[in-house]
Amino acid sequence: MSLTASAEPRPRATRIAVTSGKGGVGKTSLTINLAVAMARLGHRVGILDADFALGNIDVMLGLTPEVHLGAVLEGVKRIDEITLDGPSGVRIIPAGSGVRALTALDDDRWLRLAAAIDEAGRDLDFLFFDTATGIADTVLDVIRLADYALVVTSYDPAAVVDAYAVIKLITAADAAKPIGVVVNSARDSEEGGLVFRQISLAADRFLGRTLRYDGHVLEDRQVRESVFAQMPLLLGADVAGPATGCIRRVASRLASARPNGSGGPWPAPPGRIERGSPAATMEAPRCA
Ligand SMILES: Nc1ncnc2c1ncn2[C@@H]1O[C@H](COP(=O)(O)OP(=O)(O)OP(=O)(O)O)[C@@H](O)[C@H]1O
Ligand SMILES: [Mg+2]
Repeated sequence: MSLTASAEPRPRATRIAVTSGKGGVGKTSLTINLAVAMARLGHRVGILDADFALGNIDVMLGLTPEVHLGAVLEGVKRIDEITLDGPSGVRIIPAGSGVRALTALDDDRWLRLAAAIDEAGRDLDFLFFDTATGIADTVLDVIRLADYALVVTSYDPAAVVDAYAVIKLITAADAAKPIGVVVNSARDSEEGGLVFRQISLAADRFLGRTLRYDGHVLEDRQVRESVFAQMPLLLGADVAGPATGCIRRVASRLASARPNGSGGPWPAPPGRIERGSPAATMEAPRCA
């Protein structure tokens, strides 16, 4: 029996859009570290820098791309010609920085982007989209191309309100889009659980949406230091910091939900949180 010939179509990558509403909550650093953690679990992972005009994934990784996504959107390069090898084999598709033409994409560029994402995901298990901050149409259109929206927030009330706002807009665009929440820079697991329950109850009550809690990541100065060192936290010398276990936990959760990257819906979250139910006061999961 041949090991190479197969009538089975290859499942395409599961696309995870990491988004937030409010800026600076940790989308890019979380995306990089989740991707590395999932690669280290044996998955084939890529990151599309979907902050098209102000992308900085490459900067955070100390990479110096000569061409970026703009060349693909102009139709002068293929996606494989601009893809870089990142840490732990994570494939990086860099965006432009300070490229005004990428702030708004016309129909032709959107079609090329969608085709490029299909192409990029052909031999990957997971493809992350690190979105721009805010709720511009470009951000929502990128999320539309994803299988799963991972909304990142912090304990900051403005970040919580903006996370809810983005969930509302994602739902308005696609009521069936699965949405998960990660609470970043949390002081402890209880804080993470509290923030999730606030958003989850509002989504349940006002949008009729069940959200999945993908966990919290603890506040950790090493995350900031790893950004300055242009080295993912999980590859640093000291990998035993408070955030590390949390990131691995979130990565395992994302990876185990869709290990083969097929195109179907994500499973429902374990235990929908009903208002006033015992689950509403359940203990939040811990990292380690
Ligand atoms: N768990 C954490 N603990 C401490 N600092 C963190 C944590 N997560 C992220 N940070 C820091 O917060 C800052 C902002 O992170 P990052 O750039 O990833 O956010 P972002 O949401 O992508 O921002 P932007 O809106 O500009 O795209 C960085 O300095 C990063 O190191
Ligand atoms: Mg960012």
